[in-house]
Amino acid sequence: MKLTFAKNTLAAAEVDAAVYFIDSFERVADKELKALDTATNGAVTKILETGEFGGKAGQLAVLYRPEGYRAGRVILAGLGQGKKPEADAFRRAMGDLSRFKALTCCRSAAVSFGSLGDPACYQAAMEGYLLGGFKLLEYKTDKDQTDSSSIDEFMFVADNKSSLTRIEKAVRRGEIIAEGQLLARRLTFTPANDLTPVRYADMAQELARKHKFSCRVLDEDAIRKEKMGALLAVTKGSEEPPRFLVLRHNGGPKNQQPIVLVGKGITFDSGGISLKAALNMHEMKQDMAGSAAVLATLVTVARLGVPRNVVGLIPTCENLPSGHATRPGDIIRSRKGKTVEIINTDAEGRLILADALDYANKFDPQAVIDIATLTGAALYILGYAAAPIVGNNSILADRVRDAADRTAERVWELPLWDDFREQMKSPIADLVNSGGKPAATITAAAFLENFIGDWPWLHIDMAYVDLEPKGTSYVPKGATGYGVRLLTELLVNWKKL
Ligand code: BES
Ligand code: MN
Ligand code: ZN
Repeated sequence: MKLTFAKNTLAAAEVDAAVYFIDSFERVADKELKALDTATNGAVTKILETGEFGGKAGQLAVLYRPEGYRAGRVILAGLGQGKKPEADAFRRAMGDLSRFKALTCCRSAAVSFGSLGDPACYQAAMEGYLLGGFKLLEYKTDKDQTDSSSIDEFMFVADNKSSLTRIEKAVRRGEIIAEGQLLARRLTFTPANDLTPVRYADMAQELARKHKFSCRVLDEDAIRKEKMGALLAVTKGSEEPPRFLVLRHNGGPKNQQPIVLVGKGITFDSGGISLKAALNMHEMKQDMAGSAAVLATLVTVARLGVPRNVVGLIPTCENLPSGHATRPGDIIRSRKGKTVEIINTDAEGRLILADALDYANKFDPQAVIDIATLTGAALYILGYAAAPIVGNNSILADRVRDAADRTAERVWELPLWDDFREQMKSPIADLVNSGGKPAATITAAAFLENFIGDWPWLHIDMAYVDLEPKGTSYVPKGATGYGVRLLTELLVNWKKL
């Protein structure tokens, strides 16, 4: 799809469809709306009278053949009430538009923000359009794509050069960020028979070459040399060899300490010997969503040229049962040297993260953030609405929450009290890997805390926010690609803690 930017009016834009954003209104007072009302013989007044359209969030209306317009149709997109529509209102409106037949049957469209919005809104609009139209077609053999969009040119119009420059800059950022998130979605949707740890590592290296960041891959021997006993304990039951990826974007000065992102990369989680129930087990191909967010964020910050040093660490393997698999009751030794009594082989994510968090010390990080589909219990805390976060530094947590508010990828902090630390002690080893049902999301974080170094740390549990159950304006049903907008926003606005 081609994006163009023109000093023009919607009426004069040479396109098939013209899109006009509107926040709620009760009478036709706005100058451009008045003009449109005249051009359509009072159609705007009419749809307002009938209640078909009042600029509410989610509302869309089409006016055909407006007199004096080059476009054969004008689409009105509602942003909803509010003094000033926020970025997510544009993201949602454009998400709805991306699947709106009256638009998608056209070849070209022009958009005007008029006096509404700011750069964050323009960026969000582009994100919403690209995210809302996403569909995974790779596995469909019936290539009939009648319901997919035929838009191949999107024009942004404004009446002066300086707003146009601002719009272009923001829209291009939105495009890069949305493409990052779509990459995360695609990776997360890819089934485990196609996304093995080895294939995943190859794909990461290819992406690193293309987008000019570095990717080092530790194979099984190298993982053994690193003494990553916790990662090795998880991969033991699988025929597929594990990998450990070290991604680096060196956007900052040489002496700048990096921000390290750690992502859980379980390409399939059967639970191991503590086998999961069959219902919904297929969803466990998504157990690498945290790592997808990390990889896609590295691609995104590299493309945006973010002036920061960022390291991404991805331990990746399968969790399967077999005659070689780790058993409940086994005691394993982590890279850090701490011993772990395996109570439940399904608590595997924290094990691979433990070795990765310890490995992060190598980089003398200024902060470390891990992101993982870690606990099913997250569903009972915040559902699909937000990701629980747990950490050791309130400034870092606040930063992440602010970034979450701006990107509409929500988080909510949970407390890390000593009660939860107690729950993770083993009578015979240093730790147990499962503290049972009570506060399972927090005790998982309490386990991870044992493996961090002397740095600010934040854990994001993205179990369930990685999965959209129904489909919303800009998130179709399935893998969400959660985390890319959030982490990118955090890194773009990073300041020393
Ligand atoms: N990957 C799962 C967590 C999960 C479950 C994510 C459902 C999304 C949907 C994780 O490895 C897991 O199995 N966790 C266990 C931990 C328990 C054994 C302490 C869980 O949450 O049940
Ligand atoms: Mn598990
Ligand atoms: Zn898991």
